[in-house]
Amino acid sequence: MQTVNRIQELRELIKAQRLAGKRIGFVPTMGNLHEGHITLVREGQKHADVMVSSVFVNPTQFGPGEDFDKYPRTLKDDQEKLAAAGCNLLFAPPVDEMYPGDQASWAKVQVTNVGDRHCGAARPGHFDGVSTVVTKLFNIVRPDVALFGKKDFQQLAVIRRMTTALCFGIDIIGVDTVREASGLAMSSRNGYLSAEDKQRAALIYQTLCRMRDAIVGGKCDFAALEQAATQTLSDAGFKPEYCTVCQADTLEPAAATDKNLVILLAARLGNTRLIDNVDFVVG
Ligand code: PAJ
Repeated sequence: MQTVNRIQELRELIKAQRLAGKRIGFVPTMGNLHEGHITLVREGQKHADVMVSSVFVNPTQFGPGEDFDKYPRTLKDDQEKLAAAGCNLLFAPPVDEMYPGDQASWAKVQVTNVGDRHCGAARPGHFDGVSTVVTKLFNIVRPDVALFGKKDFQQLAVIRRMTTALCFGIDIIGVDTVREASGLAMSSRNGYLSAEDKQRAALIYQTLCRMRDAIVGGKCDFAALEQAATQTLSDAGFKPEYCTVCQADTLEPAAATDKNLVILLAARLGNTRLIDNVDFVVG
């Protein structure tokens, strides 16, 4: 696997592959890779001849006071994992390669509606940063197919909407969340948790599964279920941010008649913000 730090060099390498008739797959990441990221790369190989990944901790998607500075940077380890997974090219640019010059010369991509609620409301500007960096990466790599985890369900919805609305012509594939044996969704931020809190954090997925089972079993008072879940988490020492039963495409709060549902949840455990979700069909 070749690692490239410059946009122009990456473009030339990919262009040669494209001219040779290869289908290009892309997995953008912020590094500190775990089995969730690696699954995206492996899944991508089913849809593409050449797999490109990126490791870039994107400053514009972190708010003031968030963990940009302390976000784990483990490039050497990431390179080994990607190479072992059969990734062909890694793009690992420095910040000034992606955001050159002064801020007044930059542009921003904003996906309204689907990015407004939930994490969009809790982290103002977060999805603008994600949409902007993914647009830049899409324009650099120009993949045929790109893979994103359902772990970040709202991010996936924002990327799908952006790709359609801005006519990128890229197939977006959503990949199921990879979990620890406890059910905890794998995340780079789990590394901030003590062993004890990591075990405790499994309650998030258990709570989501209980809600899903209640809804599949016929309960449709979503507000009562949301309140009970929030209480369960508060009682266990979490600070719940939101827990909402949503329509799975629009991410608007669901009506009792909606069939395609997702329950989105964010909660803090100590200083660590954790998100998870379950999506399912009723009826
Ligand atoms: P990052 O958090 O590194 O995640 C990169 C990709 O891996 C995302 O598509 C995310 O949904 C997926 N992923 C993370 N944990 C997963 C898990 N447990 N199971 C399956 N997939 C998982 O998401 C970002 O980076 C950034 O916002 C990015 C899209 C790279 C833009 O900067």
